[in-house]
Amino acid sequence: MRTETPPTVRLEDYRPSDHLIDRVELDVRLDPHDTRVTATLALRPNPAGRAGAPLVLDGDDLTLLALELDGQAPAPDAVRADASGLTLHRPPQRPFTLRIETRLDPTANTRLMGLYRSNGVYCTQCEADGFRRITYFLDRPDVLSVYTTRIEAEREAAPVLLGNGNPVEAGTVPGTDRHYAVWHDPLPKPAYLFALVGGRLDRVAKPFTTMEGRAVEIAVYVEPGKADRAAYALDAVERSMAWDETAFGRAYDLDLFNVVAVSDFNMGAMENKGLNIFNDKYVLASPETATDGDYAAIEAIIAHEYFHNWSGNRVTCRDWFQLCLKEGLTVFRDQEFSSDMRSRAVHRIAEVRNLRARQFPEDAGPLAHPVRPKQYAEINNFYTATVYEKGAEIVRMLRTLIGETAFRAGMDRYFADNDGTAATVEDFLKAFEAVTGRDLSRFAEWYERPGTPRVAVSGSYDPAARTYRLAFRQTRPGAGADAPPLVIPIGLGLVGPDGPLDGPLAPPFAERVEDGVFVLETAEDAVTFENVAAEPVPSLFRAFSAPVRVESPLDDAARLTLLRHDPDSFNRWEAAQRIALGLMTAQVRDETAGDAGADDFVVALGAFLDAEALRDPAFAAQVLALPSEGDLADEIGTEIDPDAIFAARRDLRRRLGTGLRERLLSLREALAEPEGTPFSPDAAAAGRRALRNAALDLIAAADPEAGTALAQAQIAQATNMTDRLAGLAALALVPGEAREAALSAFAERYANEPLVLDKWFAIQAMIPEDGTVERIRRLQGHPAFANTNPNRVRSLVGSFSLANPTQFNRADGAGYALVAETVLALDGTNPQVAARLMTAFGPWRRLEPVRRAAAESALRRIAATPGLSRDVTDIGTRSLA
Ligand code: PHE
Ligand code: ZN
Repeated sequence: MRTETPPTVRLEDYRPSDHLIDRVELDVRLDPHDTRVTATLALRPNPAGRAGAPLVLDGDDLTLLALELDGQAPAPDAVRADASGLTLHRPPQRPFTLRIETRLDPTANTRLMGLYRSNGVYCTQCEADGFRRITYFLDRPDVLSVYTTRIEAEREAAPVLLGNGNPVEAGTVPGTDRHYAVWHDPLPKPAYLFALVGGRLDRVAKPFTTMEGRAVEIAVYVEPGKADRAAYALDAVERSMAWDETAFGRAYDLDLFNVVAVSDFNMGAMENKGLNIFNDKYVLASPETATDGDYAAIEAIIAHEYFHNWSGNRVTCRDWFQLCLKEGLTVFRDQEFSSDMRSRAVHRIAEVRNLRARQFPEDAGPLAHPVRPKQYAEINNFYTATVYEKGAEIVRMLRTLIGETAFRAGMDRYFADNDGTAATVEDFLKAFEAVTGRDLSRFAEWYERPGTPRVAVSGSYDPAARTYRLAFRQTRPGAGADAPPLVIPIGLGLVGPDGPLDGPLAPPFAERVEDGVFVLETAEDAVTFENVAAEPVPSLFRAFSAPVRVESPLDDAARLTLLRHDPDSFNRWEAAQRIALGLMTAQVRDETAGDAGADDFVVALGAFLDAEALRDPAFAAQVLALPSEGDLADEIGTEIDPDAIFAARRDLRRRLGTGLRERLLSLREALAEPEGTPFSPDAAAAGRRALRNAALDLIAAADPEAGTALAQAQIAQATNMTDRLAGLAALALVPGEAREAALSAFAERYANEPLVLDKWFAIQAMIPEDGTVERIRRLQGHPAFANTNPNRVRSLVGSFSLANPTQFNRADGAGYALVAETVLALDGTNPQVAARLMTAFGPWRRLEPVRRAAAESALRRIAATPGLSRDVTDIGTRSLA
């Protein structure tokens, strides 16, 4: 049994590498079980390192076949090598060459790190520390090298051979059935950006000319026969390239940009230089197989990986503590891209829903950590919502603080000053200090401590003086008693009973509110608006200007005013969400006050729909979609009873469905596409579908029989996956024959479509009924299910643990047991995926006592299992600490 905690890596212990590797030549002879890798490394002592230090190369699960130093076998006592490393005790004090030959078995590589095979395709995944599973190396992001890669394989098995950079040579190996390709990447890069691919793949491509006049060939490679599903991804690459030029002045820098889709992938996608490798879920799309959500995700992730070419690759990270430097920034960039491609207001709502669903709970639980962590035991467990999403919010706040023009200048400065280097968060902020002359050291505190800040706001109106005073007080739960106040940009405005008070005529004004932003820099502060004609409703944190929880002074009447009149769409949506949250939490807490309030809410939503539904269906769909059960749990915070939360949400949906029934039915009619309309995945068409389907959900909640009929008809007539799946999702909530029949018909129709069956697995995993645990156990034996494929596991078990709160948190512990068993079953083959699945237990301490005890014992059962991976041990240790 492993009882010791894994060794900890600390930011404060960082020191530069003692050696550098200027050039890497790799010769990779691919074979299913006996791949040979010969690495020729041009090494030298690092002037910034310790003179005379031993050379310690990382390795993981490697078999060393041969080693030469400057053409000679080193003396046996000069070297120590095993599966996990290679040490030269007294390396030369001058430049030297190491030639290392290793043997790999890509077919046996179930961890999907290093070189592995996915459906027969050879591919690699090296971030964060997978390159050491290919050859011995200084596998750290601050060692940058120029790579030349020769890839050789049997031509039949792998007609396509791809590497980083540009192709330089290709040919056959005389007298064999093998061929090879040589790739050269002129730009120095860390090992985590290395990639190669070999396999039988179809290709779609289009040319692009950069603003610098470079002719680039963009190509997307997919499984044979699926080329028609790659068009949208290809188009998204092209739009990303063009957008990064106009929005950030960043041009692409190689002759080729390749994207390869593989079906076994631990994460979403990977930004390897010139050769992005993707989970095929985020590439393949057709109207018949992909939902609007899938199209949006493909667009966003394609953009994300492409944007890494500058924010991540040209400027990389000095060490893994700086992960947010590339990830937070690149998420911010992809969010901006999607906002420009779609509706900015609707996209902002989606961003905040996601932040609240994933990052807020993380930050309130045992796995909370700073955006820039100070220590880690397993870096793969730090690809988190905090690093990514809160990291993006910090960049957004920075832009709000300094303004768009200075922000763009600062970004230019950052890229110019750090191009070709491995940088830190300090380097990033320095660029903005340089262009603005501002001191950002206090703003930098956002990176340092965990916890979601709270801002309490109170307002008071003085009719005689015509002034309105807003007072703010910030606190930092979870950040420690000595945490200093944060710099918090607060977007705000005043709204009157008939509309914005910040209109053009004699608007209210306040010193220290510039461009609608007040900056709270101290624990408490206040701002006074002058020239306020009537008691206003404050619109606070417009566009969600900071990732905080707001203790708001608004009552529901004030919120209804915002829902009607706030020029800030985000806060209109937020007003409706807050009212709904209040009504539902009142029911959970067994307060009776909710009834009249709910009726007012229904009336207000009716009026809202009359005014907005056809004008902006995507936005209206967001307003109709109530806060999730998770949002409610997060709001309630302690002693959580998921059954009570479920009942409250179901009851409010029923009320809305009953009260709005006629409107929802006629909206469904009005929004139906005329027959024969060609499918478009664009935001407008997706918005219409979203509103129709939000209406279906509420109608079915109120009247399951009518809902069933509507859903069946919708499935029968559907011309796209969005509508078909929404129909199935509505049916899935109504127990009975109709549901089971629809589920089997769907499975039959898509029997050969793994990515579509993932949706089918997920819908069943989310059924909020007692039978679901059994159903999932049955589905784990379905021929289309495989524990070796991360997408399958996430669809069936991940959806269950993250999106089925009543069943995962069954009081008898059966849900926890199912997930715990899956974690343990997976840990031996793919610890990264096992560890991620286990994070679903994160909120366990906030549950009511019976469930808390059951969750804790499941966690302890996992933690006590002998031979656990470092990944799972780390999550277990921190979850139970
Ligand atoms: N760097 C990838 C991204 O954010 C994520 C990733 C991390 C992929 C680790 C694989 C392994 O785009
Ligand atoms: Zn990324």
